[in-house]
Amino acid sequence: MKIKIAPSILSADRNNLQKEVELIEPHADLVHVDIMDGKFVPPTTFKPEEIKNIHTSLPKDVHLMVDHPLTEGYIDNYLDAGAQSITIHTECKDDILECIKYIKAKGCKAALTVKPDTSLDTILLYLEKLDMVLIMSVNPGYSGQKFIPEVLEKIKQLRKLKPELDIEIDGGINPQTIKEAVQAGANVIVAASAIFDKEDRIAAIRELRASAEQSI
Ligand code: DX5
Ligand code: ZN
Repeated sequence: MKIKIAPSILSADRNNLQKEVELIEPHADLVHVDIMDGKFVPPTTFKPEEIKNIHTSLPKDVHLMVDHPLTEGYIDNYLDAGAQSITIHTECKDDILECIKYIKAKGCKAALTVKPDTSLDTILLYLEKLDMVLIMSVNPGYSGQKFIPEVLEKIKQLRKLKPELDIEIDGGINPQTIKEAVQAGANVIVAASAIFDKEDRIAAIRELRASAEQSI
């Protein structure tokens, strides 16, 4: 499957988001946007306007780490900000099926994700309705954490079930861990610190892609 690289702007310069995204645009496949509500996870991140103000040809891939994606308006806000895919957690407190239906009815791709300790079964229930599944390889909340290799089993299981599904991995990805992720079956790769903590973001993306493509 084609490898898609999704730089996460969580580690980008927040005061220069447009410039940061313009720089990576020719080299990336998606731009990953991490949204946190201060409840599901302690931090809070971007405001909808900050994301709406990013003008890019890259699809905005929005990852909602929030308790109430639908009933507190997060889905609406990020649809309005130009999301082309929205991922919600099975651990959130809204009705999962209602969220998936709502996102899809708006013409957006719907994805589900789980924290590292949550069973894949919570996703399998909805599998036929999903455009993508995200497997988290760190506990959500912060960039720069260490990759948790045990989650690779979930990716292997999912890839067996769905040979064509977009399977995204998020957390602790670097030129080494990306190899394990791709070998397990992930094809959409999120990376924040491995790209935006580097002086040369373009070289960092190239290194990740080369490393991934060697592992297919
Ligand atoms: C973590 C976020 C990730 C994070 C990844 O809660 O969902 O997208 O930005 O950061 P790195 O790539 O540095 O682990
Ligand atoms: Zn994320």
